[in-house]
Amino acid sequence: MKKNIRIGLFGFGAVGQGLYDVLKKSEGLSASIEKICIKDPTKSRKLPSKYFTTEANEVLEDKSIDLIVELIDDAEAAYTIIKKALILGKSVVSANKKLLAYHQKELIQLQNEYGGSLLYEASSCGGIPIIRTLEEYYDNESLRQISGIFNGSSNYILSQISQKNVGYAAALAEAQEKGFAESDPTLDVGGYDTKYKLCILANHSFGLIVQPEEIFHAGIAHISSLDFKLAKQRKQHIKLVAHGYKLPNHRVALWVLPELIGADHPLYAVEEENNAVVVEGAFSDKQLFLGKGAGGHPTGSAVLSDISATTYDYKYGYKKLNFGTSKKLDNNLAIEVYLRYNSPKVLEHLPFLEVADEEAGRVIGTTTLEALLNAKQVLENDKAFIASTGKISPVKQQKVLTQFRKRVGVH
Ligand SMILES: NC(=O)c1ccc[n+]([C@@H]2O[C@H](COP(=O)([O-])OP(=O)(O)OC[C@H]3O[C@@H](n4cnc5c(N)ncnc54)[C@H](OP(=O)(O)O)[C@@H]3O)[C@@H](O)[C@H]2O)c1
Repeated sequence: MKKNIRIGLFGFGAVGQGLYDVLKKSEGLSASIEKICIKDPTKSRKLPSKYFTTEANEVLEDKSIDLIVELIDDAEAAYTIIKKALILGKSVVSANKKLLAYHQKELIQLQNEYGGSLLYEASSCGGIPIIRTLEEYYDNESLRQISGIFNGSSNYILSQISQKNVGYAAALAEAQEKGFAESDPTLDVGGYDTKYKLCILANHSFGLIVQPEEIFHAGIAHISSLDFKLAKQRKQHIKLVAHGYKLPNHRVALWVLPELIGADHPLYAVEEENNAVVVEGAFSDKQLFLGKGAGGHPTGSAVLSDISATTYDYKYGYKKLNFGTSKKLDNNLAIEVYLRYNSPKVLEHLPFLEVADEEAGRVIGTTTLEALLNAKQVLENDKAFIASTGKISPVKQQKVLTQFRKRVGVH
């Protein structure tokens, strides 16, 4: 039975205001924003000042407020807000993937202990309803793989450069202006935002909870015209792609890398700020979910859907997490990459199993996720650009290390 809902909102930025607009136009939902907690009391707002406060407790402890909607851009502050709300027995809707990626276990436990629910559809792929789809539709089907373009801002930048010949800095500025980018754009272009979403979706897809640091990720911050030239020669597009890939014996490999993809790939034509998720089930085969991954209104729409779900007491069942054998992260996966580096010293730190093509400053060869994770800081310091060619296979670690020793002359 649907009930009226009184909302305490945290944050009135791109998504908070998007939600306000979306809520005004919603016909079926009986919900009202009662109070809004913001950070800067001097900013001019499009609502009367009586709505605003900078005191979190004024909202959290107001007994007339039954739902907390957290849409701020500070993961640490959001953690404190959400934790307190759940301990007070309130339900919470959030869009904050960083906070969720780091604290999934504890937040699930707080829901179980105090009875409130925490919904976060908007945290992963903006307007695409992927979390509830994984929870409800794929609740019993074993998934082979989940992959996709999870960051609207990076995808927008890649589209502008490759299709409209816009420079990197100008494309990033446009993404920020349009409200697609995070307040700290490193989170988008560095691949962090994509990785946080992968952590959340790994839980709902495979029942695997991991800390972000356990996953290898690379972003598009160091991309150059040389990389687009190579992609063009190969008749491919470069996309920032997240992967969750099931291995035998309840193991799962997770990674985020720019990827060279051809015209036959379902993500090839995903442009602008769009996101896409490819879900590959054991029986359903591949399904593609496509939609707006960023922006106030698409994201606000996902928040609205969660608000609506709380009116009929919906909670995530965490079915994959609670069902069957526990899953394990395994980075022992061979992956072919294109690496463009600045100093050849990088090669001393990154083992390759096989090299398919090599010339000064770049190599195409097979390494492992584990090796990439170990070389992460070296790659970052070198400002190297690294992209997957899409070829993967399980591998024995010993073989990689042997090859590496031969390559760099270590005995
Ligand atoms: N933008 C998108 O397309 C998008 C898509 C999916 C998910 N998200 C997620 O949605 C959330 C909000 O993003 P956004 O783009 O709307 O951010 P934003 O435009 O930068 O707005 C952030 C809001 O949070 C408020 N705020 C910051 N720290 C606060 C604190 N300690 N207490 C109370 N309010 C605080 C700010 O207050 P002031 O107004 O006073 O500065 C501002 O209103 C983030 O978690 C983001 O990752 C965004």
